[in-house]
Amino acid sequence: MSADSTRDPTQANRRALYSDNRLKLGLFGANCSSGRAVTLVPERWSGSWADNLRLAKMADAAGFEFMLPVGRWKGYGGDTDYQGETLETIAWATGLLAATERLTVFGTVHAPMFHPLVAAKQFATADHIGGGRFGLNVVCGWNADEFAMFGADLRDHETRYELAEEWLQIVRRAWGAEEDWDFAGRHFTLRQVRAKPKPVGGSRPIVMNAAASETGQAFALRNCDALFSMPPKGRLDLFAAHIAGVKAQSSSVDVYTVAVVTCRPTGREAEDYFRHCAIDHADWAAVDRIMAMRGDTRERWPDDFEERRLHQALGMGGVPVTGDPDTVARQLADIAAAGARGIALSMVNYAAELPFFCTEVLPRLARLGLRTG
Ligand SMILES: Cc1cc2nc3c(=O)[nH]c(=O)nc-3n(C[C@H](O)[C@H](O)[C@H](O)COP(=O)(O)O)c2cc1C
Repeated sequence: MSADSTRDPTQANRRALYSDNRLKLGLFGANCSSGRAVTLVPERWSGSWADNLRLAKMADAAGFEFMLPVGRWKGYGGDTDYQGETLETIAWATGLLAATERLTVFGTVHAPMFHPLVAAKQFATADHIGGGRFGLNVVCGWNADEFAMFGADLRDHETRYELAEEWLQIVRRAWGAEEDWDFAGRHFTLRQVRAKPKPVGGSRPIVMNAAASETGQAFALRNCDALFSMPPKGRLDLFAAHIAGVKAQSSSVDVYTVAVVTCRPTGREAEDYFRHCAIDHADWAAVDRIMAMRGDTRERWPDDFEERRLHQALGMGGVPVTGDPDTVARQLADIAAAGARGIALSMVNYAAELPFFCTEVLPRLARLGLRTG
């Protein structure tokens, strides 16, 4: 692909996130206060629009492929009200698409919270504004308190995915050429549907699903271009087996994951800062609340409760990647070698830490053959 042809919104280019890089890189969670670091440190991420805009422009200029938001409606409490301020993800994506040139920007959308025809039109609108760079990360929800706030029913686990399947069928049909169609499902009944404009380029936004369970992953395999998964306990050996399992079922589904990056000139500095933020100054009250909401109790996990708690504080799960630039590049390469198509990175303060990452780590990834620059 030439530099120019990668800009055409063909389905293949959308899926490649408009780049030839073997390993796609993105930023995850910047739309939320504190991002993905459950920490008290004062330099933690603000999540403000001004900071998001600044960050997206930097990432765009540096050749990052994507930005992925967290879909969250209510803070987790604790001393910082962790993720208490969150920019709504479709509006956030639309604003960033207008201000950038290359990035694919995802919305992370709770299927039960948005009527699918409203959602399909918002996605098409964002896609037009971005010239084919909108992506959809569809999630079903897991926080009962968020759903209660809406007066909505979280539903049992299987029904959540059943609803999401109907929802996504409707969204994809609304994006397609058909007109004046009816839909009669268990969750939606629609008559004489017209939805225009269509996404740009005669193609559709790529669709990703973030899930952990077998049902959720089966949903992604049936309906999505990509599955967004966390390595179990951050372990790459388990992750490689997981990706091999996904690929055995559907070679066309890409697997993306999450890494929590702390990169400093020396390994010692990186480890010290990591400990400072994620252990010495973790927002433990928020961590414990998240653990409780997930049903992760000491009784349930007698052998590794503390390990799980720590893992939560380090960045809500995801692989901790801590060290000097050589170490960080090597660890990201290891994640790629496990089979990940792309990695969504988080940092304590994304905008403050990204320039060093771009100057030092991107050229190393290029030398490792994972990126062109
Ligand atoms: C990488 C990753 C990112 C996720 N992002 C979100 C999110 O932004 N908002 C949300 O409500 N749930 C998010 N989830 C939760 C999942 O959508 C899902 O509800 C949870 O992993 C439980 O999995 P299950 O639905 O397969 O049981 C995420 C999960 C993963 C693995």
